[in-house]
Amino acid sequence: MIIKCVEQLKNIRGETASLGFVPTMGYLHEGHVSLIKKARQENDQVVVSVFVNPTQFGPNEDIETYPKNIERDQAMAVSAGADYVFYPHISTIYPEGASTYVTVEGPIANILCAKSRPDHFKGVTTVVNILLNMVQPDRVYFGQKDAQQAILIQKMARDLHMPVDVVVCPIVREYDGLALSSRNVHLTREERKQAQCLYQALQDAKNLVKSKDQKAADLVQVMKNRINHKPLVNIDYVEIREARDLSPVTVVKAHPDSHKVSLALVAAWVGKTRLIDNMFLNEE
Ligand code: PAJ
Repeated sequence: MIIKCVEQLKNIRGETASLGFVPTMGYLHEGHVSLIKKARQENDQVVVSVFVNPTQFGPNEDIETYPKNIERDQAMAVSAGADYVFYPHISTIYPEGASTYVTVEGPIANILCAKSRPDHFKGVTTVVNILLNMVQPDRVYFGQKDAQQAILIQKMARDLHMPVDVVVCPIVREYDGLALSSRNVHLTREERKQAQCLYQALQDAKNLVKSKDQKAADLVQVMKNRINHKPLVNIDYVEIREARDLSPVTVVKAHPDSHKVSLALVAAWVGKTRLIDNMFLNEE
């Protein structure tokens, strides 16, 4: 069932013992579906939101061309186990005159995607805050696909003592390893083929770590070489960081302490489409 107003959300919250929430920008795929299924398993009721949030797009970014199909989204969300699809009008989320933002500060907010998308995470943390205040779930579900986003939101929830559990779910991939993304529909046939190198680069790094400890800089070079072989793919960043807080890493251990797991992260332009991906290099 589609709902558009906050009154309806209040009724759901009031009548439900435990409520799970999956925020999305729509054009759902199996990655989103995996979050909805997990929320279904863990809660009495599940709300999925579909809102293409303007404040997280930069002035030259792709909000105009962001894919949309609310009928299909509704059908997919319901068949994955959603009870309600919250599909708000922009004025419901940002009433006229709204000018309050929530930002996470510190090193984590100035690295990786934040470098090439300066106000992106400010828009994400603000809209997630607004949505959480509206839905008031017990648990909210995010994908590891957007690793920096997930870590920033976990930090925000902790720093602000928000009464919600932030659950992070594994990346869902295509048959050839490409991480599912709503933006994959923009890829031409040739771009789609070449995009596979992102996964392969991550896998290269992971394989090297299996046998022995590796310098992070060497692994980064191996990954860059793999990606640079593909003429339609242009690197934004390739980095290795600590999975827990995205702090820098110099040596990736084959057998780390559990809290010292390393994460390789890539972002690249494939034609005009910017894709991101990441992989744990040395989880047990
Ligand atoms: P969107 O890109 O629609 O993604 C919604 C959720 O699905 C995010 O938590 C994202 O990490 C997860 N997801 C996307 N692709 C995935 C994949 N291949 N495997 C597993 N999970 C995947 O992320 C956003 O929207 C927005 O920033 C949002 C949080 C909704 C705020 O506007």
